[in-house]
Amino acid sequence: MGPVTLSEILSMARPGVAIAAFNFTNLEDLRGIMAAAELEQAPVIIQTTETTVKHSGLEYLAAMGRAAARVAGVPVCLHLDHATDFNLVVRAIRLGYSSVMIDGSRLPFEENVAVTAEAVRVAHAVGVSVEAELGQVGGKEDCACSTCCSTDGELHLVDVDEAVEFVRRTNIDALAPAVGTMHGIYKAPPCIRFDLIEEVHRATGLPLVLHGGSGLPRAIVREAIVRGVRKFNVATDLQAAYVAAWRKALASSGGSIDSRRAGAHAMEAVCEAAREKIRMCMGEER
Ligand code: 13P
Repeated sequence: MGPVTLSEILSMARPGVAIAAFNFTNLEDLRGIMAAAELEQAPVIIQTTETTVKHSGLEYLAAMGRAAARVAGVPVCLHLDHATDFNLVVRAIRLGYSSVMIDGSRLPFEENVAVTAEAVRVAHAVGVSVEAELGQVGGKEDCACSTCCSTDGELHLVDVDEAVEFVRRTNIDALAPAVGTMHGIYKAPPCIRFDLIEEVHRATGLPLVLHGGSGLPRAIVREAIVRGVRKFNVATDLQAAYVAAWRKALASSGGSIDSRRAGAHAMEAVCEAAREKIRMCMGEER
């Protein structure tokens, strides 16, 4: 089976359950993620950011993502994460992404509405889903350094009335509201506005997306999901697991230059980390 849309996969999440969305950057972390989804028998969203596209090339990423969806025994959505470039959205759709996020959150409200509505028009015409962001999730997505992505800067949280108007005027399929989470490594425990999650979910009727899922304790994740989050984004924790396993494997390699040996350990570490997140999403204690 090919990739399913975001709307289709999110409709598989009953109340109290979210679908895990994992960023991948290469074949090894993708295979680790897919192994986790298969072992947990859970639908999964695999996604790539603009930075990853610059690094790996959209054609390669699309081909890997489509292959993953084709061979998987679970439903898979192939999603473009945080695209600020409209042309990239169009290219991703042409290459078989089944869902895109157009991120106009740094634009003035009217411009965010305009670019998002245009992305929806193009995407829906060919049966592709669209996610958009309102307010600004802090930090920098897809950057696992300990400086720029752990900003203490001011957060611009979502406004409920604006969210209602935004959804009405854009016809998006899922909304990522800024509710206090940040991408990357948290310097201090985040203050998540669960009340905003619940209000925005109730007022818009849309499945919500929680960005900045790495480092969040289980209790926070569960509360967010119970209040209306249906897509739970994780990138940094998987990268951290990948790199730590690579480093460890290299250190004990006795000078071997077989990159597949270290890669196999990295894949396994990503699989374990992803399994833990999937269980959180499903409300399982294990
Ligand atoms: P983290 O890197 O904090 O897990 O955030 C991932 C994310 O939200 C991708 O859009």
